[in-house]
Amino acid sequence: MPSASRVESFVAEIDLPHVASGKVRDIYAVDDEHLLFVTSDRISAFDYVLSTPIPDKGEVLTRLSAWWFAQLADLVPNHLVSLDDPRIPESVRGRAMLVRRLSMVPVECVARGYLAGSGLSEYAASQSVCGVALPGGLVDGSQLPQPIFTPATKAELGDHDENVSFEQVAAVHGDELASQLRELTIAVYSRGREIAAERGIIVADTKFEFGRDVDGSLVLADEVLTPDSSRFWPADQWNTGRPQPSYDKQYVRDWLTGASGWDRNSEPPPLPDDVVAATRAKYVEAYERLTGETF
Ligand SMILES: Nc1ncnc2c1ncn2[C@@H]1O[C@H](COP(=O)(O)OP(=O)(O)O)[C@@H](O)[C@H]1O
Ligand SMILES: [Mg+2]
Repeated sequence: MPSASRVESFVAEIDLPHVASGKVRDIYAVDDEHLLFVTSDRISAFDYVLSTPIPDKGEVLTRLSAWWFAQLADLVPNHLVSLDDPRIPESVRGRAMLVRRLSMVPVECVARGYLAGSGLSEYAASQSVCGVALPGGLVDGSQLPQPIFTPATKAELGDHDENVSFEQVAAVHGDELASQLRELTIAVYSRGREIAAERGIIVADTKFEFGRDVDGSLVLADEVLTPDSSRFWPADQWNTGRPQPSYDKQYVRDWLTGASGWDRNSEPPPLPDDVVAATRAKYVEAYERLTGETF
């Protein structure tokens, strides 16, 4: 099983300038137009990066995103150039993408089709989410009348993203860009959820990031429609009025808030082997159900 130090050691093995690291990814410069986008096995929960990696998670997320980019290619261009370009170092093959270097639009473009998480909390307080008014009587897990665009501003590492209204995005980035982001977000989510539904998975909500190419056109970037960027629910177990069983980090969250005895104001403890194995299995299952391929 890879240890945290193995994840760290990828940095040393890559002979390219390190550009940035997020919670899960390490990014390197390949040339002026391209980046190496390496997805580690790191997992985050409650805004902490945990000290225990989930084996194969980076490869699952990379291959799933690549599969989705192909399903979505007629709707919007994407940043993926190649998974097997000779410029991708051997040590990260499978978990790395050669991508187009973009100027990222600093908006978390969230689409919601069902009520959960921060959407549910906002609804309970205001019967709206990010300024979008909703009908009364909705509960945890309710399907919305139609998918809605509920943007958020990206927080610094360790902080919560903050939900904002369409008007707030328009005030900062202009009406035209805000409208384009909303339109693309809803279109891509709608396609994604249609495909997932055929495979027994509800995409309750998901987050996209877009960037601008040198010619100014919008490009779908980052990861897409993965268990890290989305709430995936098994359709046959969906029931409103309670939290849904999900494909995301449920085992990790349940363990951290329950048996671990973790005090939320300190670093989370290392994960036990059974939580790691169950979490890995969920990521692999999501990949296999969606793509129809064996991991
Ligand atoms: N094509 C791209 N060009 C430049 N930056 C990108 C591109 N695609 C994604 N990014 C950025 O790379 C980072 C991905 O790393 P990740 O670990 O997922 O970060 P985060 O902790 O913000 O989720 C994000 O900051 C994202 O905005
Ligand atoms: Mg990310």
